[in-house]
Amino acid sequence: MSLSEKIQEIKSTFDSDYKSVKNNQLDNQLIYNKYLGRKGLMNTLYPLLAEVDANKKSEFGKKINDLKNHIASKLDDKQSTTNSSKNKLKVDLSLPKSYDSFGSIHPITLIIDEIKSIFNRIGFSSVYGPEIDTDYYNFEALNIPKHHPARDMQDTFYINDQVLLRTHTSGSQVHFMKNNEPPVRILSPGRVYRNEDISVRSYCLFHQIEGLYVDKNVTFSELKGTLEYFAKEFFGSNVKTRFRPSYFPFTEPSAEMDVYWGLNSESDYRITKGTGWLEILGCGMVDPEVFKSVEYDSDRYSGFAFGLGIERIAMLKYGIDDIRLLYEGDFKFLEQFKK
Ligand code: DAH
Repeated sequence: MSLSEKIQEIKSTFDSDYKSVKNNQLDNQLIYNKYLGRKGLMNTLYPLLAEVDANKKSEFGKKINDLKNHIASKLDDKQSTTNSSKNKLKVDLSLPKSYDSFGSIHPITLIIDEIKSIFNRIGFSSVYGPEIDTDYYNFEALNIPKHHPARDMQDTFYINDQVLLRTHTSGSQVHFMKNNEPPVRILSPGRVYRNEDISVRSYCLFHQIEGLYVDKNVTFSELKGTLEYFAKEFFGSNVKTRFRPSYFPFTEPSAEMDVYWGLNSESDYRITKGTGWLEILGCGMVDPEVFKSVEYDSDRYSGFAFGLGIERIAMLKYGIDDIRLLYEGDFKFLEQFKK
């Protein structure tokens, strides 16, 4: 085939390729490579130019260049209709996908963080307490001796006679007071474990936040004031709260705080057992027996403590009707908490 026939052939295959090409960048790129790429058809013409008679070289050179310009300008036109910018026809398929964050903060963590920040504003700092603890810290030092009926309220996972999974965060009080002198103003959040039947309302693990305040002349009205401040900050200034007398071996007197939830729907009835009120925490003045365990002088110091249940608060705040959702790690559930 002569050079001139070859040029003609390339032009006609290009024109038909060009007609059938869809208006997308990828097809344009393929055509560009086929004709104008380094190994494209246009580059097969130049070696043939060497075989052409010297007096015809410039004529053929011009024909080749005209074809090249023809192809380039057609592809440029297509490019500008698919892509208004003047960029080269390039799609880099090897680039990684743009960053998309999948994670979200777990609702339990959101609640704990919010409560910590509310108490931080009035001088409480967070401390760690161990989840695997001893009978002594979880019970004995909190005035719950062996065979005390209060142990029955907390079905315990024992690892051996002495070691257990903590049933509440109250043991953190003892750990902290043993290692620090008053005044004390701490929160201690974390997981606790109880051997309970798993249902929509209970699970074998859940979360609490323990609070402890010890100083000279700490009074019950300060306990009330502190917890009312918390409830207003967390639930809003219109929240209604009430204190009911209760019993815990490590506080005397002891109380529970309820939040008025209302009775607007069927599920409100179930949550509050038809009363409208929901208990969210236990509290009281630290029992002198506990001070004895940690060698604090109960003639000089007094204090209050409280323990909040996080799951309840999370279920109320986010309208979660099955506690198990909080532990299953289901993306569809967790995605809702993405900010
Ligand atoms: N530890 C208790 C429980 O798990 C809650 C509690 C009650 C904590 C009274 C306290 C408190 O610090 O003073 O049921």
